[in-house]
Amino acid sequence: MFSSVTELAERLYAVRYIVDHVTLHVVFLAAQMRKPLLIEGPPGCGKTELAYAIAEAADTTLERLQCFAGITEEKAIGKFDEPLQKLFLETYAEDLKTEWSVIRERLHTLEFFAEGPLVRALRYQDRSCILLVDEIDKVDHSFEALLLEILSAWQISIPKLGTVIAKSVPFVVLSSNEERRLGDPLRRRCFYLRFENPTVEREIEILTLRSRSRSSKLNGQIAGLARALRGWNLEKPPSIAEMLDLAQALEILGVQEVSDDQRDLLLPLLAKTDADRKRLLLRSGFEGLVADSKRYRDRFMRRERSENVL
Ligand SMILES: Nc1ncnc2c1ncn2[C@@H]1O[C@H](COP(=O)(O)OP(=O)(O)O)[C@@H](O)[C@H]1O
Ligand SMILES: [Mg+2]
Repeated sequence: MFSSVTELAERLYAVRYIVDHVTLHVVFLAAQMRKPLLIEGPPGCGKTELAYAIAEAADTTLERLQCFAGITEEKAIGKFDEPLQKLFLETYAEDLKTEWSVIRERLHTLEFFAEGPLVRALRYQDRSCILLVDEIDKVDHSFEALLLEILSAWQISIPKLGTVIAKSVPFVVLSSNEERRLGDPLRRRCFYLRFENPTVEREIEILTLRSRSRSSKLNGQIAGLARALRGWNLEKPPSIAEMLDLAQALEILGVQEVSDDQRDLLLPLLAKTDADRKRLLLRSGFEGLVADSKRYRDRFMRRERSENVL
């Protein structure tokens, strides 16, 4: 999939995904060793996006199984396409004078099966796809067990149809927001990556790469604001995606620096629950936040200047 770590690094950067040294190497190893990647961390810290970035970097397709409470095997694996089976029987009624067992067998082939993402992922021929099982913490243990067969044997058994064996082994990425603890058998099969909210430096890199703002001063302040907000024990601290939204909003408004008097305007972008909103509405709330964001920004800019001098 990737010939070297350097190639992977360049390609991920080209698709505007920022990785640290460890993540880069673990992704490379997982690709080489055909190991699934299990990524855990809070929402919005780049788990799903990494899977998409790997797919784009490898110039391959991504199959996504979006998990949710109550998901059925049908949704993941697929099901027989009954209307198509009926249509086939009607159309070829004349020719189908064969035995019932032969007809039944004929109807239970992949040709009459509407494939779900798990089956599709196993059927890529020339080039492996990326199989993203997103938010796997939302499903229960029995569903997790279904995945084990795929991850250990690269095959899947389907009633009436038989066993679908992988034509090529997909690169599997499992993401979890940790609403439920995943079982050990699943963990054992994977390489484990733990994502946290980014440091100020990393968030500035992401903002620079993903937002239209090229001002390191403004990006520094937005990243500083994120850092300050995340240190506040909010009910819903802002994710990277929300900071990117803020960057875009500031760009639209032509704002170069966040200041106290923008509180009412920016609150709907930063505080997403009533309790968080009330906290930021306290007299010293937003002012303190803006002061902190400037401090983080200035610290970053000083460090950057001194590095440039060296
Ligand atoms: N390391 C990163 N490099 C570039 N963009 C990132 C990175 N991490 C997060 N993002 C941005 O944050 C957004 C949200 O990330 P996402 O993968 O959806 O979070 P998660 O799946 O962890 O909840 C992405 O769409 C992307 O714009
Ligand atoms: Mg996600």
